[in-house]
This record gives sequence, C-alpha cells and structure tokens, in this order.
Amino acid sequence: MKKILTALLLAAISIPAAMADTPAELRSKAFKKMLVQSFEPMGMVARGRAPYNPAQFQQYADALKPLAAEPFQHFPANSIEGKSRAKPEIWTQPAKFQADKEAFLKSVDALALAARGKDLAAIKKSYAAVAQSCKTCHDSFRGPEK
Ligand code: HEC
Repeated sequence: MKKILTALLLAAISIPAAMADTPAELRSKAFKKMLVQSFEPMGMVARGRAPYNPAQFQQYADALKPLAAEPFQHFPANSIEGKSRAKPEIWTQPAKFQADKEAFLKSVDALALAARGKDLAAIKKSYAAVAQSCKTCHDSFRGPEK
C-alpha cells in the first residue's frame, strides 16, 4: 500500500514536467511574439495602414533584433513532435537553415539601421527585405499547418 501511494505521489509530482512546453511550442510562441510585438506593427506602417512615427518605429525595429533570435534557441535535433510545422530538412540541411537564419538576422540589423535614417521609402525597402527572408526560410523549412 505504501509503495502504491509513493508511486502515485511520484506520478503526481512528475506531471508538471510532462506538461512543460515542447521545443515546437516554445519556438512557435517565440515566432508569434516576434510577429505581434515588433514585425506586424512595423508592417502596418510599411503598408500605410498606420501612421509613421519615427521614434516608435525605431523602438519596434530595435526590439526585433532580440525577438528574431529567440525562436532559433528552440530547434534541438529532430524536434518535430506534436503540432510542429518544422520540416526534417532543418536537420538534414543544417548549413542551408543556418544560412537562411543568418541572412534573416542581417536583414533585421539593416532594418534597424534604416529606421535611424527616418526615410520612409528606404525603411519600406528594408522591411520588405526582412519579409522576403522570412518567406525564403518558410518556403524551404516550414511545412503546412497540421
Ligand atoms: C531560418 C528560418 C526562418 C526564418 C528566417 C523565419 N521563420 Fe518563421 N518559422 C520557421 C519554422 C521552421 C517554423 C515552424 C516551427 C514549428 O512549427 O515547429 C516557423 C514558424 C513561424 C510562426 C508560427 C506559426 C505557427 O502556426 O505556429 C510564425 C508566426 C512565423 N514563423 C513568422 C515568421 C516571421 C514573421 C518571420 C520573419 C520576420 C519568420 N517567421 C522568419 C522558420 C523561419
């Protein structure tokens, strides 16, 4: 009886660990956070749907740098379990995935620099380059929704 109770207790204790976010959930959350807290507010300005406020845009552009790096902390080997849209190519073509990531982070730096110039036409161009680098990676490495 005591043994069974102990086993039950241990099982109860281990539940929180089992419910911890999977890598796929962590990176998905990080991608969404980046989109909501920085990329999309800038997109509204780039598409002329929100007014261009240079100081505020600068904040969004500077915030993108750490936010953009965050999801890539959560791609441990072959972590495609659950609802992940990650393609196996991430791990079979690591050099290409890495290169797409580096190009993306470079475009993010360029956008922050363009924001300092306060030239909306140049900013829109830099924003479009970032969006293109999102797409380049998604085309190769993100599968359909499950
Ligand atoms: C180097 C590759 C790469 C780059 C660059 C990249 N992504 Fe992704 N993104 C992925 C992968 C892979 C997934 C799927 C992750 C998963 O489901 O496990 C993903 C998932 C997402 C998701 C979550 C979608 C969902 O249904 O959970 C969003 C939102 C997203 N990306 C937006 C963006 C935006 C916006 C950019 C550019 C500002 C971007 N991504 C740049 C590879 C990339």
